Amino acid sequence: MHPALAMRPDLNDRALLKARFSRIRAQTEGLTQGLAPEDMQVQTMDDVSPMKWHLAHTSWFFEAFLLQPLIKGYQPFDPVFDYLFNSYYEAVGERWSRARRGLLTRPLVDEVLRYRAYVTAQVERAIETMDEALWHQGAPIIELGLNHEQQHQELACSDIKHVLAVSPLPHGPYPRPEELPHKSEALGEMAFMAFEGGLVEVGAVAGSGFVYDNELPRHTVYLYPFELAQRPVSNGEWLNFMADGGYQRAEFWLSEGWAMVQGERLQAPLYWRQIAGEWHEYTLHGPQKLDPDQPVCHISGYEAAAYANWAGARLPLEAELELLAHCAPPEGRLLFNQPGVHPARMQAGDGLQAVYGGVWEWTQSAYSAYPGYHPPKGAVGEYNGKFMASQWVLRGGSCATPYDHVRASYRNFFPPSARWQFSGLRLARDLSA
Ligand SMILES: [Fe+2]
Repeated sequence: MHPALAMRPDLNDRALLKARFSRIRAQTEGLTQGLAPEDMQVQTMDDVSPMKWHLAHTSWFFEAFLLQPLIKGYQPFDPVFDYLFNSYYEAVGERWSRARRGLLTRPLVDEVLRYRAYVTAQVERAIETMDEALWHQGAPIIELGLNHEQQHQELACSDIKHVLAVSPLPHGPYPRPEELPHKSEALGEMAFMAFEGGLVEVGAVAGSGFVYDNELPRHTVYLYPFELAQRPVSNGEWLNFMADGGYQRAEFWLSEGWAMVQGERLQAPLYWRQIAGEWHEYTLHGPQKLDPDQPVCHISGYEAAAYANWAGARLPLEAELELLAHCAPPEGRLLFNQPGVHPARMQAGDGLQAVYGGVWEWTQSAYSAYPGYHPPKGAVGEYNGKFMASQWVLRGGSCATPYDHVRASYRNFFPPSARWQFSGLRLARDLSA
């Protein structure tokens, strides 16, 4: 058995896993509050999936990998859904094309919600009734399905944001968090934290809790002495980059990034817009005046790299950010029972800030296999490994990452052109040995 899918003793507590399963399923449905069926239908670009599709696909995952293969006599809710809601698993079969997900007016949202309820009930029953041998196979798959669903909770937030931001009548479906009092002290100079480097261990320890296959095996890397900023780059600092011609000066940009700036006429992060001469940004609580002390968000890897060049720094390596992540408690910020899906304002003064729960931080590390990596056998092996080309790793976790879905070894990955995720950057600099 692959170590990422091996049975662990803590999975023997069926009641605990069932409670977690029911909670996470309900949390996904909670993300539809404040949305109308029309909002849940639209697909604004190929990378965006409609909310309705996320609701269905996260149910399909349990049907395809748990209920159909392991539960004798399982009756699928609708056999066509296997075709409609398979995302990218070649081994499972043919599927509806990703770019055309928004064209599926049927099934209706109501039917998708009935599908969800059916799958939820079937999995809950399976948790109660599987015999011991089956449980050893099924429990790690249920846990994978829950982590998959949590990933989709964040994707659903970034996707619905892209959908709703298009309209000249932007809608902010989620409640605005309570405003922190405006402090008198400015954010001030960015402070850095030094690391001596050398031979360090990175990656997850197999068997210590749930991890994806791509976080394994744990292995040794060599790092030269470096320092990392104690907080991510702020909106105010990004405005300085823009004022200094950041989007007009080719000297800061990677060639592909410069082509993107010119081709798409980029001038600012994705959701920034000028209203009556002042910068605003669209948030899931509606448009708001740009807060200079919040982390800059919704930038591509190319923009992050250009900023780092402009600032006389560089993007961190993923191993460097993993060392930093061990210096902070792993807490995401999507709390579900509390309002707020936007990076929180940072505070003046020294001290490590927003390692988790602000923005995903771009690294310069290509998303590739760790030494000795191999994917699990079968269809589920397509989860991560086959995407190890042309993408960059992001580390940390964002304000849209579920609070219990972050850890130091977590590897997020997107093409460096992607801007619609909750992505920002933290600066790194070399230190002489
Ligand atoms: Fe998925």
